[in-house]
Amino acid sequence: MRQNLVIGNWKMHGSRSGNEQLLAGLLELLPSSLSNSVVAVCPPALYIDAVKAQIADSVIQLGAQNICAESVDQGAYTGEVSAKMLAEFDCKYVLVGHSERREYYVESDAVVANKFKQAQAQGLTPVLCIGESLEQREGGDYIAVLTAQLKAVIDAVGIAAFNYAVVAYEPIWAIGTGKTASAEQAQDVHAAIRDLFSEHDAAIAEQLQVLYGGSVKAANAAELFAMEDIDGALVGGASLKAEEFSAICNAAE
Ligand code: 13P
Repeated sequence: MRQNLVIGNWKMHGSRSGNEQLLAGLLELLPSSLSNSVVAVCPPALYIDAVKAQIADSVIQLGAQNICAESVDQGAYTGEVSAKMLAEFDCKYVLVGHSERREYYVESDAVVANKFKQAQAQGLTPVLCIGESLEQREGGDYIAVLTAQLKAVIDAVGIAAFNYAVVAYEPIWAIGTGKTASAEQAQDVHAAIRDLFSEHDAAIAEQLQVLYGGSVKAANAAELFAMEDIDGALVGGASLKAEEFSAICNAAE
């Protein structure tokens, strides 16, 4: 039985005082223990330490939004944060392959695969994000696009690595647009993703958590989570509001 996982991706949002307020609200609104779900937040790297202190001994887990792709613990890579550094601060998850990084920072499938590997080398769980553009969706070949994104990583890291990974389907046209994929549209893609994995390994396909992301909010979360192959959400904008995010987490629980 797969547990639901809800991850808040704060993107480049927050401030010291704003984060404190947001987390205080979440700690108040979330139950003190969870049995059917896991909740995590991914703040900007600069705030990881303060967030870690504030969520200590709570149900909220910590994640990061990005990781260095090089296989070194430290070195001359200006501006980068290594997997080892994230592990030192108890990050459990790290996003890799987010469409914003693929697009604005020109991250290739090869870079995404390297980030995935570095995360696992330090015991972090990579959350591999994939998604198609509106043009690709309307062109009708979006499953091929998603398959290619997944295959590039599977070929590089091997199927067994997905025993310790999460996949997030985030259609680019639904990110920050208020335009969620319908629960049925999302379910169709999630089922296709699981099918792709089961062609390699049925047990991995069965246990793999596949999250949906793109304008998830309290009002549509329960409907998405009711779908057979949707195992939680990667939440952007709504993760910045304690009431919205806790309601999504409660729907997952
Ligand atoms: P929104 O929830 O703001 O659409 O963002 C989704 C996302 O990109 C999460 O990684």
